[in-house]
Amino acid sequence: MILGALTNIIKNATPAACTFQASATDLPFPDSYFDAIFTDPPYYDNVPYSYLSDFFYVWLKRALGDVHPKLFSTPLTPKSKEIVAYTTIEKSWNEAKQRFEGMLRQSFKEINRILKPNGIAVIVYAHKTTMGWEAVINALLDSGLVITASWPINTEMKARLRAKESASLASSIYIVARKTQRQPTGWFSEVKEELKKHLNEKLDKLWGEGIGGADFFIAAIGSAIEVFGKYEKVMDYEGNVIRAERLLDYVRQLVTDYAVRKILRDGIAGQLSPLSRFYLLYRWSYGTARVHFDEARKLAQSVGVDLERVWNRTFVRKEKEYIYVLGPHERDLSELEGSSELVDVLHRVLLLWQRGQREEIKEVLKGTGWFSDTFFRYAQAISECLPESSREKRLLDGFLTGRERIISEGRGEGSGLSEFLH
Ligand SMILES: C[S@@+](CC[C@H](N)C(=O)[O-])C[C@H]1O[C@@H](n2cnc3c(N)ncnc32)[C@H](O)[C@@H]1O
Repeated sequence: MILGALTNIIKNATPAACTFQASATDLPFPDSYFDAIFTDPPYYDNVPYSYLSDFFYVWLKRALGDVHPKLFSTPLTPKSKEIVAYTTIEKSWNEAKQRFEGMLRQSFKEINRILKPNGIAVIVYAHKTTMGWEAVINALLDSGLVITASWPINTEMKARLRAKESASLASSIYIVARKTQRQPTGWFSEVKEELKKHLNEKLDKLWGEGIGGADFFIAAIGSAIEVFGKYEKVMDYEGNVIRAERLLDYVRQLVTDYAVRKILRDGIAGQLSPLSRFYLLYRWSYGTARVHFDEARKLAQSVGVDLERVWNRTFVRKEKEYIYVLGPHERDLSELEGSSELVDVLHRVLLLWQRGQREEIKEVLKGTGWFSDTFFRYAQAISECLPESSREKRLLDGFLTGRERIISEGRGEGSGLSEFLH
């Protein structure tokens, strides 16, 4: 099918399609030359493209070196102009990051330069970390292009090797930008109001389309750029320029608020502590995967949890630069005693359930004040966030199936539980 499409494009294109090699940071075309540009840039050090290419390059060079002598003039693929963030013994992560961001910015500026006025550019982006997004947003804001739309499209294979065990995305965001006049300055307080209005509509749409977890955040971020990308810069009233990091902090707050309400089907969201909200959002966004510390920190921050104060003391574990959230089976029953934090109570109850200690479950729920709708709805919501294969989900589902007896027995003993069963 792909071959057929390519053949058609080549046959019908006027003037004929042609391919050539150049660096995106320095394109050999005059200003205002193209109607449209489509690009799929690399993301930091996600994939070592040039090194991977060497494997094929050495064979292609033997087969096609005579046909394309210029393309195969070097012994291995050229590496010096690659837009990538490789660290080396001499180059720290900070230097590598700056190099990548500088080159990305330069390539977006090149797009703006060679596009015709009102020309369209589509940039594909699918980085799961917000750091990747900050880079692309800052580079776009600096390029002069105006973002007019963004769409999530399912592009990644679920069974992909790298998707297993990691918090991978199923979708990529297609960012649509135009070479057109931007509004000079957006004031942060007004942009925030605009963002709130815009996102509330967009989030309803994304939710309705069944986009969930980390993909939901990324699609929301993509959509938020439509708002602040209209301005040359966004400033607060004290004259500080607001860069992507702060804009995204605000977007994340709006999105987490929306997501918690939706996951819990409204109603009880207000009764959850920040820590229990964080647990729910973590499971919803990343399932049982571990994530980079900075990602988890930002998620925590959006619900008012300071991750550094809770790791290794609660269900949050830090291992090198990664954060991992413990499930019930990874917790120690004795350590959970005495806590009335909802997650802890849930984990304690699940461990007791596993041991068949129903009487103790009722005691714990009543003693901690969690013999309530909120508790069971919370348990249900967590179960819905997890994949079928998860051990935590199986435990939760077993418990939720058996809850009727616990509730009716508990209710018989006089509880404040209302009509969760119906
Ligand atoms: C995300 S991949 C694009 C993959 C492509 N859409 C595909 O399906 O094969 C990013 C690509 O950008 C290329 N790249 C890196 N630095 C570049 C530069 N300076 N100029 C042009 N391309 C570059 C990488 O080699 C890599 O192939």
